Amino acid sequence: MSMLNIALPKGRLGEKVYGMFETAGFECPSIKENNRKLIFENPEAGVRYFWVKPSDVAIYVERGAADIGVAGKDILLEYEPEVYELCDLGIGKCHMAVAAAQGFREDHRRTLRVATKFANIAQGYYNSIGRDIDIIHLNGSIELAPILGLSDVIVDIVETGTTLKENNLEVVERIIPISARLIANKAGYKFKNEQIRAIVREMSAMTEEAK
Ligand code: PRP
Repeated sequence: MSMLNIALPKGRLGEKVYGMFETAGFECPSIKENNRKLIFENPEAGVRYFWVKPSDVAIYVERGAADIGVAGKDILLEYEPEVYELCDLGIGKCHMAVAAAQGFREDHRRTLRVATKFANIAQGYYNSIGRDIDIIHLNGSIELAPILGLSDVIVDIVETGTTLKENNLEVVERIIPISARLIANKAGYKFKNEQIRAIVREMSAMTEEAK
């Protein structure tokens, strides 16, 4: 049996995801050792895990450096990687939302200035409602933009809402529900089909139970 290469998103979500793989029978105890290694393998279980920056998982999978991985629906919608989306893991739940300063009133005569890391998602949303926008592409701390007058609104991920609240912003509209998805490389899915399908079966059973 060939090794299955699995890209995990580094961080709290990734630890949860690894827990699901472990429960599914694809354990790799060395991954829990507290060090800075990025690759861990368990030849007996036929798996090799790598810790990857969450927004890079889809790139590893698309290019075949990983056979499968876990990526947020936000990344899949924004970059549209050529991968198979196998199942919704039901974790990492949040929303893509439009937010603005508390009490913000939109001036419909003017082009709306939208700050975001998710230009494609934001553009798609405003196209769908026929609103002209000017995208301001930022890489982080998006919440600052409306506070400093750099933008009118932001399109960003809202999980607990704490970041918005602490910066005197509020949700104007929830656009898309987001959660973590199991994805596969298209060729890898063919060649390692049995292993991957076994994982999907176990993972789907787990998410069904959690519902
Ligand atoms: C996201 C998002 C918000 C925050 C929302 O950032 O950009 O800043 O989480 O979470 P909350 O509603 O629970 O406060 P993330 O932590 O993913 O880091 P980033 O700024 O690097 O995108």
